[in-house]
Amino acid sequence: MKLLISNIKTLVQVDTEARKWVAGTDMANLNCIDDAYLLIEGDKITDFGKMEDIPDFDDKEGFDCIEEYDATGRMVFPSFCDSHTHLVYAGSREIEYSDKIKGLSYEEIAKRGGGILNSAKLMHEATEEELFESAMERIHEIISLGTGAVEIKSGYGLTVADELKMLRVIKRLKKSTPLTIKSSFLGAHAVPAEYIGRQGEYVDMVINEMIPMVAAEDLADYIDVFCDKGFFTVEDTDRILNAGMKHGMRAKIHANELDYSGGIQVGVKYNALSVDHLEFVGDAEIEALKGSETMPTVLPGAAFFLNMVCSPVRKMMDAGLPIALASDFNPGSSPSGNMKFIMSLACINYKMLPQEAINATTLNSAYAMGVEDELGSIAKGKIANVYITKEIPSVEYMPYAYGSNLIDVVILRGKVL
Ligand code: NIG
Ligand code: FE
Repeated sequence: MKLLISNIKTLVQVDTEARKWVAGTDMANLNCIDDAYLLIEGDKITDFGKMEDIPDFDDKEGFDCIEEYDATGRMVFPSFCDSHTHLVYAGSREIEYSDKIKGLSYEEIAKRGGGILNSAKLMHEATEEELFESAMERIHEIISLGTGAVEIKSGYGLTVADELKMLRVIKRLKKSTPLTIKSSFLGAHAVPAEYIGRQGEYVDMVINEMIPMVAAEDLADYIDVFCDKGFFTVEDTDRILNAGMKHGMRAKIHANELDYSGGIQVGVKYNALSVDHLEFVGDAEIEALKGSETMPTVLPGAAFFLNMVCSPVRKMMDAGLPIALASDFNPGSSPSGNMKFIMSLACINYKMLPQEAINATTLNSAYAMGVEDELGSIAKGKIANVYITKEIPSVEYMPYAYGSNLIDVVILRGKVL
């Protein structure tokens, strides 16, 4: 089956040559074609160009089963790649949200049984089936919001059995949706209550019991650690990344959200695919990232929801670095997977240009989850995960109209949903 989308007002983020990411001042450039067509065959993009150059498909053999979609007035974007989420979880934490509004501190909320450990308790009580179904609902929601690839972490289990339970749910999700899904093992997300004061023993369990079992069942593409003040130290992270890499899991870590934790440097040391959050970034962190293969990834939803300082993205881009943006969809610090809203936050709070925000949520976030060869831009041979907008005046209108749903038609693996 072939699908021809014709009369596209603007075809956004096109690549004629393979690019792994966009960095520095190039992030302000977005390759677009006005008055364009896009041809999809099976699940792949096979051709695109200007309407005036469109081949006469009717005359050609093999094009008899072509379906045509007239996109007059609308734009076509590559689907968002959301490279950092925790979207498998049980229950929700809006009570903590109210407590925070009333002025309770993070510590007070934790003392009342809130925070990551609250989600771990709810996770323990949930069945695999319940977790699968609630995660599937979130997946349907993010698909309708334009996401075409998502990374999902474990980390609300914090016991061998519950971490495996979460990862098995993610494995099942991978097989049950046209979304491309990558999984990360985040056993070191928080120290469980029964290990407080014995953090080293918990890290030993992550290394000696969890990692080998996760690897044996092939449950994770990546290994993650929450390397930050009050959570896991650089030494813990060093040990865990080492062990994960021995089992074939590349690092992709939480770093420098709460302090200059050393997380960025240890991530780069282990050639992490990405280091994520990055509220605390100074010259030393930028120097470490320069020339590395590690994608600096910023999570504006979590910073917005927790009222945190903003990561110095302009400083990083001025230093020539690439930036990726992701939603951090999770019940505690970012209960939304709306990547269009993430772009708006990036523009408003971080002063990223709309073009920079689009690069950061497509090609760069594809790199940050290891799928830049097949997703993240409109390129021949890439998977046909795209969306068609409603009638909009410009590319900038997408992050500008921050509360409007402007996504009209979603196409995943070449199929109109
Ligand atoms: O990415 N920073 C660490 N972990 C999560 C928060 C998870 C939670 O509060 O449940 C994050 O923001
Ligand atoms: Fe996170």
